Amino acid sequence: MSKSILITGGAGFIGSHVVQLFVEKYPDYTIVNLDALTYAGNLENLKAVEGTSNYIFEKADIQDESALKAIFAKHAITDVIHLAAESHVDRSITDPLAFVKTNVFGTVNLLNAAKEFWKDKLSDHLFYHVSTDEVYGSLHDGGFFLEDTPYDPQSPYSASKASSDHFVRAYANTYKMKTVISNCSNNYGPNHFPEKLIPLCIHNIKTNKPLPVYGRGENVRDWLFVKDHARAIDTVFHKGKEGETYNIGGFNEWKNIDIVKLLCSKMDEKLGREAGTSEKLITYVKDRAGHDLRYAIDATKIQQELGWEPSLQFEEGIEITIDWYLNNQDWLDHVTSGAYQKYYSEHYGD
Ligand SMILES: NC(=O)c1ccc[n+]([C@@H]2O[C@H](COP(=O)([O-])OP(=O)(O)OC[C@H]3O[C@@H](n4cnc5c(N)ncnc54)[C@H](O)[C@@H]3O)[C@@H](O)[C@H]2O)c1
Repeated sequence: MSKSILITGGAGFIGSHVVQLFVEKYPDYTIVNLDALTYAGNLENLKAVEGTSNYIFEKADIQDESALKAIFAKHAITDVIHLAAESHVDRSITDPLAFVKTNVFGTVNLLNAAKEFWKDKLSDHLFYHVSTDEVYGSLHDGGFFLEDTPYDPQSPYSASKASSDHFVRAYANTYKMKTVISNCSNNYGPNHFPEKLIPLCIHNIKTNKPLPVYGRGENVRDWLFVKDHARAIDTVFHKGKEGETYNIGGFNEWKNIDIVKLLCSKMDEKLGREAGTSEKLITYVKDRAGHDLRYAIDATKIQQELGWEPSLQFEEGIEITIDWYLNNQDWLDHVTSGAYQKYYSEHYGD
């Protein structure tokens, strides 16, 4: 059946991969990418689909009720995949309110717009909320996050995402909206804004800058290649059961310091540097306030019930990622300058 899907946050890291996958795989769907183009949103991430007949971009803020109303009506939106968010834990520590505004208020605004527009037939439409494993808190002694692990968010970012998850469930329960939620572990891959660990290290190794590592780098994260997350979102969107939650992960845990050392050794090889050169750039810095020790996802449910599993081994994914950053210096330069704003104006006007 033909659909008109509103994907929010489609100019960001994960959203851009989801938009590209849906535009290319489902030519019968209209894909409407709604994004406010904050510092993290970049239309250069979508060059591959720009100009494709089933792709539309709408610059809007999910906090803007009338803009949402108009976009739902203009494109006769049938379903939502909601990724737009403030997503960086460090920024949430310095400005928690920005996270409440977008992640909590913005999500409720979007739920209201969908509920209002679909009011005659709520059960015909899906609101898919994309969330994070960080809502479950920190694991200290073994174990994995399951879909029914109690929420225990520890940072302003994860508290805002947990709150938005609760609102989505509340709308399902109260108004009988058809919803689904997925909670994913850390993503890596192309288009990742260089404030996050992996792209930051690749960039700094290349430019011989210090590699800041929080505390002793003992924090453990589970890493998933971003295109595998996009494939999982496709799977949950099409096969997920109404009202359910699916954990998505890479079965791939790494200590931060080990990731940084791996990047150093791979980059030494690629840049023709003597082994051990880049490790000298590692600089331990004061730990992040309230830094969660370990996240680890048990992704058995999506694997067994929906048949999804990661397609790439980490070794393969990290090679692709490093090569992408080395071959896309222009992209890095643009996202770290104001140049993509110009790109946006040239293509879409102010
Ligand atoms: N990055 C990860 O490892 C990870 C893991 C699990 C879940 N998630 C979740 O996936 C989603 C996408 O994450 P990401 O890493 O791609 O984030 P990102 O920061 O790269 O992208 C977020 C996008 O949302 C847009 N946006 C921000 N505020 C907006 C607003 N008020 N209105 C409209 N658009 C707005 C930005 O312009 C940007 O394009 C988020 O909901 C995040 O919580 C991320």
